[in-house]
Amino acid sequence: MIDFKDSIAKLLAEKLPELTEAEIKGMVEIPQDQKMGDYAFPCFRLAKIMHKAPQQIAAGLAEEIKDSPLFAKVEQVNAYLNMFISREEMSKDTVSEVLEQGDAFGRSDIGGGKKVIVEYSSPNIAKPFHIGHIRSTVIGNSLNKIYDALGYDVFRINHLGDYGTQFGKMICAYRHWGNKEDVEREPIKTLLGYYTKFHVEVEDHPELEDEARAIFAALEKGEPEEVALWQWFRDESLKEFNRVYKMLDISFDSYNGESFYSDKMPRFEQELEDKGLMVESQGAMVVDLEPYKLGVALIKKSDGSSLYITRDIAAAVYRKETYNFYKNIYVVASQQSLHFQQLFKILELMGYEDCAHGCVHVPFGLVRLEAGTMSTRHGRVVFLEDVLNKAVEKTKEIILEKNPNAENVDEIAHQVGIGAVVFNELSNNRIKDYVFKWDHVLNFDGETGPYVQYTHARCCSLLRKAEAADVAKAADPASIDFSYLTGDAAYDLVKLLYAFPGVIEQAGERYEPSLVARHIVDIAQSFNRFYHDEHIICDNADERVAKLALVTAAKTAIKNGLAHLGIHAPERM
Ligand code: ARG
Repeated sequence: MIDFKDSIAKLLAEKLPELTEAEIKGMVEIPQDQKMGDYAFPCFRLAKIMHKAPQQIAAGLAEEIKDSPLFAKVEQVNAYLNMFISREEMSKDTVSEVLEQGDAFGRSDIGGGKKVIVEYSSPNIAKPFHIGHIRSTVIGNSLNKIYDALGYDVFRINHLGDYGTQFGKMICAYRHWGNKEDVEREPIKTLLGYYTKFHVEVEDHPELEDEARAIFAALEKGEPEEVALWQWFRDESLKEFNRVYKMLDISFDSYNGESFYSDKMPRFEQELEDKGLMVESQGAMVVDLEPYKLGVALIKKSDGSSLYITRDIAAAVYRKETYNFYKNIYVVASQQSLHFQQLFKILELMGYEDCAHGCVHVPFGLVRLEAGTMSTRHGRVVFLEDVLNKAVEKTKEIILEKNPNAENVDEIAHQVGIGAVVFNELSNNRIKDYVFKWDHVLNFDGETGPYVQYTHARCCSLLRKAEAADVAKAADPASIDFSYLTGDAAYDLVKLLYAFPGVIEQAGERYEPSLVARHIVDIAQSFNRFYHDEHIICDNADERVAKLALVTAAKTAIKNGLAHLGIHAPERM
């Protein structure tokens, strides 16, 4: 596609030796109001350099560039030079590109194959995979798809919380009150129950604490019986997590979590000591980060057991040494911001600057549930799996209400119900806390997943209704008369399609899938205005074909945008 900003900068650079082309490009704006043109160039800065009134400069420039074939019209308004791109040019260029690229529209190779690690989801073994985990899971999944689309070589890690003193307690509890069948039937709830019971019992039987500590020590030493139990808890928990990943259609390249690093820590503890970074404090070993206003990081407890951050030091260096990443992205709640600041600082102080500078924490806010949103059958925790099942169930009801004879209801309800929950997560700016509301999530008319999916299905339905010969013609840019795609509604849609690849790029740069989510809502709304304002399958054959080409292009962009969010685009709804 033509980079219009670039072409404008080139053109203006010829007339303005005072500024570099890059400076000019940086100054070109996209006005909020269409009436001010597609692009605008403010002349305030030039006024200072050229000692001339900005209005005068803008007027002079307008005169000089107005005959370029790029523009339909160029105007001076106050200190601005307003440029209107030739609508036909823009439509032709954009729609042709989308048709030619198809599924690849929006992809690029700016990543140049550089390795990017995205770490996401990372639930804790034998703990619920609750609604709070969904954010890391879906934001991370979307980021990996966005980075893949940008031409990076993505490696997806689920850094399971599968290690720590709590496993001593869990094994201890299992030995006292446990039962194999219960664990196999409902692993996480059962194991969680044991863990809770342990904390109740230990009040009256403090000796349980010592027993648990001894069990954890045995586990750290690799005693077969303890290791086997731990492994079994891990396997059973993963089975449950995998059920959720399957529903979400999410996979990983590695499940190397905390336990994987248990034997890799002594090297770093030694290095921290050798470099004089570790000091003793009340029997424990810490790194003092007060000089950086980052508090104190606890590396080793007084009983010698290692900690979360120590495993993260080992993990970061291992990833650098094994994958030589360009970026190592951690998608983890904002409550852990200090942890990651400490981690990156320690890596830097240890001399792993290269590793530290490639690490990025992508934080996100909390999800709160509206009172009464979910029955809390399992105590206070709301399980993600229950939320997803409920979304599918409710969607099925809505679909059948709208269309009692709908075909493939189960498959579509699955795609739409799950898509609704995922989209809801991703359309919110990630750092903001938000409240999960069913009425909003499943609203087919709001700025929601179902609305976007429905618009995609509407495009598909139009293409099914049209004559096959027209649809075939509409797929070939050479046979399209783009002058039919210059009305306000069509042009508004074309401009959004033109912006699509840039939005993907920005979403990657800012680690913000919500930019993609919001952009496809804009495309869907713009498409629906076009659909209502214009008669698409009209009598004039050339006009009909051109409009069907735009329908195809809109459908393609929506489908690709949804794919970057990890959401299916059903063809019928
Ligand atoms: N398991 C942790 C939790 O549920 C998240 C792990 C984040 N990743 C990391 N490398 N520390 O809170």
